[in-house]
Amino acid sequence: VKDDRIARISSSIRVIPDFPKPGIMFQDITTMLLDPVAFKDTIDLFVERYKEKNISVVAGVEARGFIFGPPIALAIGAKFVPMRKPNKLPGAVISEEYSLEYGTDIMEMHVGAVQAGERTLVIDDLIATGGTLVAAINLLERVGANVVECACVIELPDLKGRDKLGGKPLFVLVN
Ligand code: PRP
Repeated sequence: VKDDRIARISSSIRVIPDFPKPGIMFQDITTMLLDPVAFKDTIDLFVERYKEKNISVVAGVEARGFIFGPPIALAIGAKFVPMRKPNKLPGAVISEEYSLEYGTDIMEMHVGAVQAGERTLVIDDLIATGGTLVAAINLLERVGANVVECACVIELPDLKGRDKLGGKPLFVLVN
């Protein structure tokens, strides 16, 4: 994205080396949340892109998709649906297993939260390998949702997660 707001957003994100493990450069968006201008510009850039797209569902991935998803959903008049770690949602769920660097994890969504055919946007803070977004897309498509696009604040392009999304469009602000 080319926009004057991007530089401030980018510099508001703190990089912490060797967290949570040696060799990982952790992209910490909590410092962006301390800068109300950068945080608002981030939300505004997504809202500007999605407000006229007839999106009725914003699906946010735990945990940091829960920070960015709800303000976008409110601004575009969509519902917000949390995509959660296992055994957190109290109602009936559908589950999707996905692979991590070591081992697997499970993502869950409430049955009935999204109807077949609903135009859906998936939000997370960051795409690395892409495994998390693939799990979210799969869950949504299993209930018949139309996943229009995925959007993240940050992309780690070297990991080529974008290529795993099966051609699904990915919109990012910073890489
Ligand atoms: C991070 C990030 C994404 C995911 C991206 O979450 O917030 O959700 O990893 O990685 P991938 O593209 O390789 O799948 P994390 O694992 O830190 O979990 P958390 O948000 O619950 O802390």
